[in-house]
Amino acid sequence: MGTALLEARSVTVRFGGLTAVDGISARFAAGELVGIIGPNGAGKTTFFNVLSGVLPPTSGRLLVAGDDLTGARPHRYAHHGIARTFQTPRVFAELTVAANIGFGLQFAGRGRAAAPGLADAAGILEVIGLSAHAAQPAAAITPSQQRLLEIGMALATRPRLLLLDEVAAGLTEGEVEHMARLIRGLRDDLALTVIWIEHAVTTLLRHVERVLVLHQGCKIADAAPAEVVRDARVIEAYLGDEMAQGTS
Ligand SMILES: Nc1ncnc2c1ncn2[C@@H]1O[C@H](COP(=O)(O)OP(=O)(O)OP(=O)(O)O)[C@@H](O)[C@H]1O
Ligand SMILES: [Mg+2]
Repeated sequence: MGTALLEARSVTVRFGGLTAVDGISARFAAGELVGIIGPNGAGKTTFFNVLSGVLPPTSGRLLVAGDDLTGARPHRYAHHGIARTFQTPRVFAELTVAANIGFGLQFAGRGRAAAPGLADAAGILEVIGLSAHAAQPAAAITPSQQRLLEIGMALATRPRLLLLDEVAAGLTEGEVEHMARLIRGLRDDLALTVIWIEHAVTTLLRHVERVLVLHQGCKIADAAPAEVVRDARVIEAYLGDEMAQGTS
């Protein structure tokens, strides 16, 4: 195997007596679309916080394209092409949709060329489907559109790797499917690497080629969706027999 775009080596995060992430190792290759699933409190967001430099790991190492960034600040991760969304959307409500994208563009990685269509606000708005809303304040668009805007802000930083934390939470079934197609397009058409946390498991498993399952801070599975839905530990910890039958 060559150098992974992102590699976590035995990463552990403790909050006092609680081990939120427990010795997780994982490799992500350029161009992959990988899902992360697991019950509430499994450590998914905490793992993202480590992968984006928001939290230093208590122990373990983080390598980005072979560079050891363990303990580095978030801006160094951003500089290396890692962008993320937050579980609670963080858009600037009073600014227009276009200005929110403009904010992200200020942090665009200077060393990297933007993917085709992602060099300016107009192109990004087109990709996320919000061109018609460019001049509206972010507060005036729907929660579902705000999720899209948050992805647009992340895209503006010229990422190589996008970390998406429950961008489909609270969306209708149709909106979830639309979001999944957008995410697939980012990888298929714009060559981005994407790691996607979502509780909408059925949709997620249909679109990713590999999925990590976290449970009580541990990685209990790391395989193709078809394999994961048959995994006895995964079914017991999260999926339940019903879903395994429904998708096999
Ligand atoms: N800053 C913090 N301080 C203390 N405990 C924390 C902190 N952040 C997370 N935790 C705890 O760590 C554990 C993992 O939380 P995390 O948010 O990573 O789970 P999650 O898998 O993202 O859950 P969800 O699906 O509900 O978003 C939980 O028990 C949570 O309460
Ligand atoms: Mg979470």
